[in-house]
Amino acid sequence: MRIKKKIVIANWKMNHGFYETTSFIRNFMKKIFEEKINHKKKIIIAPSFPFLHIASQIVRGTNLQIAAQNISFEEKGAYTGEVSAYMLKSIGINYVLIGHSERRKYFLESKEILLKKIKIATKHKINVIFCLGETGEERNKNQHFSIIKKELYNTIFHCSSNEIDLIHIAYEPIWAIGTNKTATTEECQEIHQFIRNLLMKKYGKCVSNNIFILYGGSINTENAGKIFSQLDVDGGLIGSYSLELENFLKIIRS
Ligand code: PGA
Repeated sequence: MRIKKKIVIANWKMNHGFYETTSFIRNFMKKIFEEKINHKKKIIIAPSFPFLHIASQIVRGTNLQIAAQNISFEEKGAYTGEVSAYMLKSIGINYVLIGHSERRKYFLESKEILLKKIKIATKHKINVIFCLGETGEERNKNQHFSIIKKELYNTIFHCSSNEIDLIHIAYEPIWAIGTNKTATTEECQEIHQFIRNLLMKKYGKCVSNNIFILYGGSINTENAGKIFSQLDVDGGLIGSYSLELENFLKIIRS
């Protein structure tokens, strides 16, 4: 029987400036330590790049983690505007989101780029939260299983057994992101189990049991508990409902 802490990740996207970031994290820490909920869940917050350093300083010595929302696919050099794995690691960042559908859509990140990002992050011992999911059209055509399988084989299934230990998967159906249309609990469980079975075939039981498979896409204070209670759902990636302290706390308490 798998007994794992759930992971809850706040993906703030391009929201919150310096003041909102620092005051949210300080107030949040106060609450979760008072309520002792930090022991029951692993909580990760992903603010924007300029605030990663101060955020990682604020949480230092606690079990709260800070994640970057992006990473460069190269080590260093003439890549204006990019932030490298080495830079992230040098300010204490141990998690990064890769493959979010917004990065794929607006910044045209291909599977080759995503794989390079995965490789560089794991090389620097940064844990990857790898996002994948089908479009609404693909789901309507009942192609979601084949899309997810192809995506896994094109990306994280190129990882060695050492690298895979640093990978978390976030199943995020694109039709559910920021739309208020959440996948049903059955739809979540079905895909999560499918992913876990593929992991088992490729990497064996230990990896498939231990890897975290999170759900993301319109999680809110009402549906979080039901989604998180599914056997193969190891937590969630929360967008809009992570921006306000009370909402995020409610999700964590659920
Ligand atoms: P949402 O975003 O919760 O606002 O749908 C989730 C995500 O994009 O990770």
